[in-house]
Amino acid sequence: MNFQIALIPGDGIGPEIVAEARKVLDAICKKYGHEFKYKELLLGGASIDVHGIPLTDETIEEAKKSDAVLMGSIGGDAATSPWYKLEPSKRPEAGLLGIRKALNLFANLRPAYLYNELKDACPLRDEIIGDGFDMMIMRELTGGLYFGERKTVEENGVRKAIDTLTYDENEIRRIAKRAFDIARKRRNKVTSVDKANVLDSSRLWRKVVEEVAVDYPDVELEHMLVDNCAMQLVKNPGQFDVILTENMFGDILSDEASMVTGSIGMLSSASLNETKFGLYEPSHGSAPDIAGQNIANPIATILSGAMMLRYSLDLDKEADDVEKAVQAVLADGVRTGDIMSEGCTKISTSEMGDRICAKILGE
Ligand code: IPM
Ligand code: MG
Repeated sequence: MNFQIALIPGDGIGPEIVAEARKVLDAICKKYGHEFKYKELLLGGASIDVHGIPLTDETIEEAKKSDAVLMGSIGGDAATSPWYKLEPSKRPEAGLLGIRKALNLFANLRPAYLYNELKDACPLRDEIIGDGFDMMIMRELTGGLYFGERKTVEENGVRKAIDTLTYDENEIRRIAKRAFDIARKRRNKVTSVDKANVLDSSRLWRKVVEEVAVDYPDVELEHMLVDNCAMQLVKNPGQFDVILTENMFGDILSDEASMVTGSIGMLSSASLNETKFGLYEPSHGSAPDIAGQNIANPIATILSGAMMLRYSLDLDKEADDVEKAVQAVLADGVRTGDIMSEGCTKISTSEMGDRICAKILGE
């Protein structure tokens, strides 16, 4: 099959990890006789350096023309990078928020699970880990506080900043449906997370989620307040299957969940719209402190490539192959620095990519 893939290397370790993911996709193409055409696009700091803005119309148009987008990471060190001297709407992060909105990528899937091979890296005690955990955070990605009106004013000599948190029922319904659909393919449970004891937007969220749940009698629904959820994630992570939540809560909880796995360098994510199209990126950031050293962990990006094969290109078998190759390489006892443990062999970013390719090709 032929596909057009947009690649956004981005900033920091982005270019290195995307290069490895591309290698892995090429290995899949070689094995199965597919042809992927790649187009590299600028976003974030890389776009600022060339065009002065973090997101251009060209990047949006080229992304729209492709079957899917695979991204590395964007952003730099806010204390030292010149990008952060620009006004907020021109900084790298604004580019990422902008492309999500422009492509209507409202459904953000962030899996967080414990790899058996990496149990030692999990910061939780054994009795809390129990049989491990495997959850999918469904974060609403184009509404709420991050996209509401905001301004900073001065009133009678006092500076004041205002952000607005808005959701309409259609925005809530479409993400809730996605969450229930995904729960059906997993363990049939949705935990909807809100702050309904305080926020109107959360009270509407809860009502609409309950309306959607009527069509999914086979899926168990529970509601949880966000502060309690933050606690439960470290107290009993095994209780969660699908966590459904709004944009900011999902931003925060997904970082917490990935840290709880102890291996944030392993976790992928997908951002989807109403069609098959999606943008795929690792859950971690651009790690500017280790950029360019060939030591970053490329696995989260490689697994994001697997999600792309599965969700946007309908290549399930190929996606399985990538995931199995990752497992097999971990079982061989090789690790990048971030997931290194005693008795294992430390390898570089590119070597990790090469080894995963070799497993796929049976070399
Ligand atoms: C994420 C990031 C972004 C977000 C930032 C970089 C705008 O934290 O993908 O979680 O908040 O969505
Ligand atoms: Mg975040």
